Amino acid sequence: MVNSELNLLQPYPFEKLRTLLEGIEPSAQTPISLSVGEPKHPAPQFVLDALTDSLKTLEQYPSTRGSDELRNSIAQWLCQRFALKNAATLAEKHILPVNGTREGLFAIAQCVLDRSKSADSVLMPNPFYQIYEGATLLAGCKPNFYTIDENADANLASISDKDFDDAQLIYICTPGNPTGAVNSMSALQALIEKAHQHDFVIVSDECYSEIYRKDSGAPCGLLQAASAMGLETFDRCLVFHSLSKRSNLPGLRSGFVAGDANLIKHFASYRTYQGCSMSGAVQSASTAAWSDEQHVTQNRAAYDEKYAAVVSILNTKLSVKTPPAGFYLWPELPTDDQTFTQRLLKEQNVRAVPGSFLARATTDNAVNPGQNRLRLALVAPLDDCVQAANRIIQCL
Ligand SMILES: Cc1ncc(COP(=O)(O)O)c(C=O)c1O
Repeated sequence: MVNSELNLLQPYPFEKLRTLLEGIEPSAQTPISLSVGEPKHPAPQFVLDALTDSLKTLEQYPSTRGSDELRNSIAQWLCQRFALKNAATLAEKHILPVNGTREGLFAIAQCVLDRSKSADSVLMPNPFYQIYEGATLLAGCKPNFYTIDENADANLASISDKDFDDAQLIYICTPGNPTGAVNSMSALQALIEKAHQHDFVIVSDECYSEIYRKDSGAPCGLLQAASAMGLETFDRCLVFHSLSKRSNLPGLRSGFVAGDANLIKHFASYRTYQGCSMSGAVQSASTAAWSDEQHVTQNRAAYDEKYAAVVSILNTKLSVKTPPAGFYLWPELPTDDQTFTQRLLKEQNVRAVPGSFLARATTDNAVNPGQNRLRLALVAPLDDCVQAANRIIQCL
C-alpha cells in the first residue's frame, strides 16, 4: 500500500557503490575517500558561534518565508555576487530559504509540474544529480536527458525545439557536477529565450557557484543573465544556492531559492503544507555565513592548491584538465570504471565513484556517458588528495 510511483525510483549512486564494493578487503594503507562530495575543510567558527548564540529561537516556530534578516543577507549577497539591482525587492518577493538545495530541488518539481498537461517531460543533464530524476518521477512526469561534458554551452545548444516543446521544466547544473563546466551568460540568455518561446521553467542548480578556480573567475548565474537582459522579474527562472559547499556546512542544511516572484509565491504556499521551514538557529547561522566572503576566498584557495597538485600527478598517466569550477575531477580511464573502482579499493584503499553510476544509458543502444569515467571529489585535505592521486597512478 504505497504510492506506485515510488517503484520508479532508481537505486541511489552510493547504494550501488556499496553493493559494488561489498566484500572487498581494502589494502592495509590508510583509507582515503574521494567518493562523497562532502567538504572536509573546517566550518567557519563565527557561523558555529552564531548557531549556538541563537538556540533560544528554538522556542518559537520559524516561518516558511524565513526571517527578514536572512532574506536581506541573501539579497545583499545576490546583488554583490551577480550584479542584481534591488536588494529590498529581492528580499520581499524573490527569495525563500530551503533546507539544503537537495530538498529544494526535489520540492520545486512537486510545486511546478502539472500532471494534467500533455507536455509531460523534464529536461535534465546526463550525468546528473539523481535528485532531479526522482523529483520528476514522483511528480508524475518523465525525465528527458541531455548529455553533458566539458562543453556546457554546446550541451544546452544541442537540445532540440521538440524537446523544449515537450518539457515543463529544465534542470541545469552550472557549475556542473561532475564536469565542473560552467555556462556562459550568452548560453544562459539563449536558454531563457527558449523558456519564453516554449513555455517551460528553468531550475538552475548553482550549489557549486562559489567553488571556482581563481584563474577562471566567478561563473555567471541564471539570475545575472536574466537581469543583464533587462528581465528584472526573472520570469520562469529559479536558482538554488547552498552553504554546504561554499561555507563547508553540509550538515547545517541551508540554502535558498531565488527568482520568479509568482513561482516563489506558489512555492511558499506548497512549503507551508510540506512543513519545511528552516529552524531559527539555522537561519541566524546562515545570515552570518551569507554576510562574509573572506572564508569563501580561503576555501577556494585551498581547492586551487589541491587541483594544481593532483592534476599534475594524474597527468603522468591520464589526460586530465582542471575544470573552471566545482571540486571534482572526471577523468576518462583506459579501462572499465566499475572494475577500476573495485581495484582501487582493494589494492590502494581509495574510494571513488564509477562514472557510470552517475549517468544513464538513455535507450537500449545508447552509451552511458559516465562509462569509463571516474568521479574524484577533492574534498580530503591536500596531503590525502596527493596521496590518493599517487595511488591511482599506481593502480593504472
Ligand atoms: C549537483 C548538486 N546539487 C545539489 C546538491 C545538494 O547539496 P545540499 O543539499 O547540501 O545543498 C549536491 C550535493 O552534493 C550536488 O552535487
